[in-house]
Amino acid sequence: MANDLLKGKRGIIFGALNDMSIAWKVAERAVEEGATITLSNTPMAVRMGETNELAEKLNTIVIPADATSVSDIEEVYKQSMDHLGGKIDFVLHSIGMSPNVRKKRTYDDLDYGFLDKTLNISAISFHKMLQVAKKMDAINEWGSFLALSYIAAQRTLYGYNDMADAKALLESITRSFGYIYGREKNVRVNTISQSPTKTTAGSGVKGIEKLFDFSERMSPLGNATAAECADYCIMMFSDLTRKVTMQNLFHDGGFSSIGMSLRAMSQYEKSFDDEQDSPSYG
Ligand SMILES: NC(=O)c1ccc[n+]([C@@H]2O[C@H](COP(=O)([O-])OP(=O)(O)OC[C@H]3O[C@@H](n4cnc5c(N)ncnc54)[C@H](O)[C@@H]3O)[C@@H](O)[C@H]2O)c1
Repeated sequence: MANDLLKGKRGIIFGALNDMSIAWKVAERAVEEGATITLSNTPMAVRMGETNELAEKLNTIVIPADATSVSDIEEVYKQSMDHLGGKIDFVLHSIGMSPNVRKKRTYDDLDYGFLDKTLNISAISFHKMLQVAKKMDAINEWGSFLALSYIAAQRTLYGYNDMADAKALLESITRSFGYIYGREKNVRVNTISQSPTKTTAGSGVKGIEKLFDFSERMSPLGNATAAECADYCIMMFSDLTRKVTMQNLFHDGGFSSIGMSLRAMSQYEKSFDDEQDSPSYG
């Protein structure tokens, strides 16, 4: 349902690779809510992925950029302001990648060159987006920056590897830059900590299917989908949330606040009984 929540606003969406991407859903919803946007992704993703199809559908342009490159990011802001006809109101950072995860290096056997890349691509790129925007004075007053995080920043989850460190850094950058940007320019900076979601990046995490199922069962409202995440992003880009900044906002069906659920308790009791009954336990 469209409510013109972003009517007249200009935005940049980084990270739409295919129609499973969270950024893809956000781009579609933003346009539905009256925004004009540009899209950006790596030159390789633009060649191999479906970002161009989305741009065609939404009647906009794709600006290829590696989010670890300051000059590429400068170009994204420059071309976006030219194309959209003014300063930007909202930016989505929907970018994550870990070469250690890809190459199946475990957390106690990290390749440190890969770790540098994980942190640079998945977290420091957000600092670069913020710093470049501020220096270029590219953002309107009451503008809104969002990045996507995961609860592995606070809690240890098997298999999330060095992406946990990247998310902790991402959330810290959000607070530190959010303070300065808020104080000086009334621009807000937040992260949304999203449920496990079936996307290309998500499927790289070890045991993602079981993790997805676990949090689905543990969350009183179930996992949040990519489309629901897009709705939350729209609210955060809208004028309805102008005083929300420096926050990590959980969008996870309640998972982050659950210790023990009724369902988990029953399952626990069941497996305990099984163990007692098992002949191998004498
Ligand atoms: N899928 C999940 O379970 C889940 C849960 C919580 C948070 N998130 C976060 O959501 C965000 C979006 O991921 P997604 O799940 O939609 O997967 P996705 O694979 O669709 O999106 C990841 C994007 O990052 C882009 N990217 C990688 N390296 C880049 C670089 N150097 N410069 C610019 N872009 C680059 C990819 O091209 C891709 O478009 C990520 O930050 C991810 O960590 C995902």
